[in-house]
Amino acid sequence: MKASPRHTRARHKVVFKHHNSRKMATTASRGSSIGPNAEPDTSSVPVIPSLLTSHPPIRDALATDSSQLQDETVEECAPFLTGYGHDRCNTHGTPPLLRDRHVKFLQKQLGMLPSIFKSADPSRPWIFYWCLNGLSILGEDVAEYRSRLVETVRPMQNKDGGFAGGFGQTSHLATTYAAVLSLALVGGEDAYEVIDRRSMWKWLCSLKQPDGGFQMAAGGEEDVRGAYCASVIISLLNIPRNLAHDSPACSAGHTDLFGGLPEWVGRCQTYEGGVSAAPGFEAHGAYAFCALGCLAILDSPHRTIPKYLDVPRFLSWLSSRQYAPEGGFSGRTNKLVDGCYSHWVGGCWPLIEASFRGPEGQPAARPADKPLEQVDDSLFNRNGLIRYIFCCCQDMSKRGGLRDKPSKYSDAYHTCYVLSGLSSAQHKWALVSARADATLLDGDRWFVSPFMSAKGQIFEEVDRVGTTHPVYVIPQQKVDDCQQYFAVKTGF
Ligand code: FPP
Ligand code: ZN
Repeated sequence: MKASPRHTRARHKVVFKHHNSRKMATTASRGSSIGPNAEPDTSSVPVIPSLLTSHPPIRDALATDSSQLQDETVEECAPFLTGYGHDRCNTHGTPPLLRDRHVKFLQKQLGMLPSIFKSADPSRPWIFYWCLNGLSILGEDVAEYRSRLVETVRPMQNKDGGFAGGFGQTSHLATTYAAVLSLALVGGEDAYEVIDRRSMWKWLCSLKQPDGGFQMAAGGEEDVRGAYCASVIISLLNIPRNLAHDSPACSAGHTDLFGGLPEWVGRCQTYEGGVSAAPGFEAHGAYAFCALGCLAILDSPHRTIPKYLDVPRFLSWLSSRQYAPEGGFSGRTNKLVDGCYSHWVGGCWPLIEASFRGPEGQPAARPADKPLEQVDDSLFNRNGLIRYIFCCCQDMSKRGGLRDKPSKYSDAYHTCYVLSGLSSAQHKWALVSARADATLLDGDRWFVSPFMSAKGQIFEEVDRVGTTHPVYVIPQQKVDDCQQYFAVKTGF
């Protein structure tokens, strides 16, 4: 893990308060230690790497508002990272996954919500997606929600083809993406047939812009979320790629919904190496994931990602997202760790790894004498992220659910994306091609195996969560079922 030289204070204040000295680490050996001064009783304390119990060895001398907030965040996380509030930590100081509490939390969010949630009304398809996907990752069968979802979502598709956040609201690509994924999650003909593919095609054509990108809504902003959401919808529903003649993109000579799209995504890479919402803005983890996800759909990622992005610069920026001692990811430079980036940033790793494959389409070289599961060639510190998630992101109270950081309340968004990030940290994905020129739609296949850390597993096997497709972020079987259903529909 890279200890980022973030804006932290020159004065190395020992900030950690020891709420639970019984569980403090014993191995702090570099940076400014955050452990207690007195020698602890080593017989009962867990062993936590010093990287996760010390201030970063490199600290920027400039004190700013950001460095102040960063110091406060380290102070906030430190006691949790060393076991505070958990009475069932394992020998690595990691608490168990409170699966049942998180399941109950998500189930409750799918029911009637109190009036305080009124402002979330336009995000209802998102709430369905976050809850259903979170429940799936936790091992629940969400098909039982099919009929309820079908009846709720059906009125949300407007005549223009897009789904809105609710009946009578404006169509938007983000809510359309969330509605389509929710329908794919519950699966089955009744769910798939809610979608009017012809009007969806027309609507997507109307959002396609002359520069190759997609607007999020008619006359709305054009950003990399649009590129990703449109690619997901088109490839899941087998939407015909030819552009309607009245699409704005036709004026630039485009004839294909994907025309000019990878080039447009490539223009979103910034001087830092990350990806921004649109050309010229600040790099952010959520947009980085959207960019890689889009490129991994347009063609095999070992062709598209190096062709349209500068991978070494991207890797440098992505590596800087993981902080020590927190272990979690931030979304952008000089900002704070947040559990949701476990997915937005964490989900970039399998996609970028898939871009390393050789031209013959096989996974990049790895020691020939070792099975995939035993090779720890991780590009980020998986244990660091897993520790942040188990220790800092779980609401251990009766409320349950997962959160940004200990001072925040759990919510459906964070529960979904923290669990997705946990899933990708606990598993290893490899993209294998049937042929050199295969794509995701005709011969590329993602394979998953449990990640077994050669450095020692810090969580119990019972706390390994389910898998979620690295591009579509729903279970792989649900992607296959949906694509198979629509594969026979070549037209409308
Ligand atoms: C900044 O929030 C957050 C963003 C700039 C990006 C938000 C975008 C997404 C979550 C992606 C949506 C994806 C799809 C598929 C529609 P902030 O300033 O509150 O957080 P920060 O301080 O961590 O940057
Ligand atoms: Zn967040």
